[in-house]
Amino acid sequence: MRSVHNIFLICFIFLHQHISTFAQSTTDEKYRPSYHFTPSRHWMNDPNGMIYYEGTYHLFYQYHPYSSVWGPMHWGHATSKDLIKWTHQPIALYPDKNGMIFSGSAVFDKENTSGLGNHGKGPLVAIFTYHNDSLAKAGSKIFQTQGIAYSNDSGKTWSKYDGNPVLKNPGINDFRDPKVFWHEASNRWIMSLAVFDRIHFYGSSTLKDWTKLSEFGVGYGVPNILWECPDLFPIKYKEKTIWVLISNINPGGPNKGSSTQYFIGDFDGKTFHSFDHDIRWADFGPDEYAGVTWSNTGERKIFTGWMSNWLYAQQVPTSTWRSALTIARELSLKEVNGKFYLASMPVHELNQYKGKQLHLKNQSIQYDGKAILELSDLGIEDFKLKVKNDRGEYIMVGYEKASNRYFIDRTHAGITEFHKEFAQKSYSERISVSGKLNIKMLLDRSSIELFADDGLTVMTSLYFPNSSFNKIELDTNMKGDGSGIKCYALNH
Ligand code: FRU
Repeated sequence: MRSVHNIFLICFIFLHQHISTFAQSTTDEKYRPSYHFTPSRHWMNDPNGMIYYEGTYHLFYQYHPYSSVWGPMHWGHATSKDLIKWTHQPIALYPDKNGMIFSGSAVFDKENTSGLGNHGKGPLVAIFTYHNDSLAKAGSKIFQTQGIAYSNDSGKTWSKYDGNPVLKNPGINDFRDPKVFWHEASNRWIMSLAVFDRIHFYGSSTLKDWTKLSEFGVGYGVPNILWECPDLFPIKYKEKTIWVLISNINPGGPNKGSSTQYFIGDFDGKTFHSFDHDIRWADFGPDEYAGVTWSNTGERKIFTGWMSNWLYAQQVPTSTWRSALTIARELSLKEVNGKFYLASMPVHELNQYKGKQLHLKNQSIQYDGKAILELSDLGIEDFKLKVKNDRGEYIMVGYEKASNRYFIDRTHAGITEFHKEFAQKSYSERISVSGKLNIKMLLDRSSIELFADDGLTVMTSLYFPNSSFNKIELDTNMKGDGSGIKCYALNH
């Protein structure tokens, strides 16, 4: 990301001159997902400040409204009743004298602890990072600080707090992405902040001033890597409450580039203790990053990530818009061989969009670029299937018994030359004790999300074929009458 900052100015000047050309180009619209969120135009990266409030899901996201590469960050805004169908809203937060608006979170300040509410009603409060680019370029170390903004009209419009920044920089370059939640037991707000290669935790009773509580990270996770977009939250396992700490990292992912690692442990209101030193991944594929959970959803934990990778996000072959988000995923905790893991599955709301069943004929299924494929109770044997077009371009998805790994191979998927690391076969270990393979795959026009073994292994991968994929072809050894193999069209 730091190299991104450095090349930003050159790209910005170049692209500014070309915006109108890009805006006229529609050839890349064939890659625009049908049921995954994309900005109507231009650049998006991390989902931010996602919050459920009064029956509406408010999604904010890192947005550059003037070009299709990264630039001065705003918070774009969209709303949904079901996490699948989105309505674009006006930009929520613009850069100001303190800097660009980087990633962060939003909370419902029910008790009006901030005093920023209206008529006795608590406000929604967004907590974000200010990135002051002039200071960064001048060589200062204190260019990232935390600010807040509030809304008293259910998230429609936002005002910045006069006393910003609410958390100053102690002299550390990478000091960002505040994720805040109300911690009932200690009766205060807790902020997780990514600080270079670790997390700092802060506490506050007003959201307006913050005290450092502890640090976590030394000796944990992929070493010597930049940590970004953290998230600490409790999750129920039977009668127990277990704590999950997400820390997105860039690079260092299991299939190169950016990825979401997490730790399982305890939080006592001050310090997070990880149960072990294992590195766990919320998604093993190359194309999920900056994933965090939605706020104000009660015990339901919903996770959304950016469906791209900093390695090549700015070069993928779309230009009128760039980047999509993953499907919203419901998180749960599962125990495998005495250890806890997160399991993620598409939210149940997606089922409403399941269309007619598509039939298997001569080992293949015709589809229109978007489908849900379900493989149930397959024996633990090698399998592979191809998702392809009529030009011979394809992705291959499967399982290798000898190494106990799932894979997605996009080496022959069409346009790959825009980055040398894009054409790759990515692998993921299988985390499961079940004697059968159960897999759900979401196919959209330029992405696949694979959810194996009730979501214990997840892989997300992009692809850019020269013409739409329209056929799923099963390997000859995927025998049977097809009863364990079901494919549904998507009505969206
Ligand atoms: C993660 C990230 C964040 C930062 C934002 C800037 O992708 O680098 O750390 O706040 O993007 O757009």
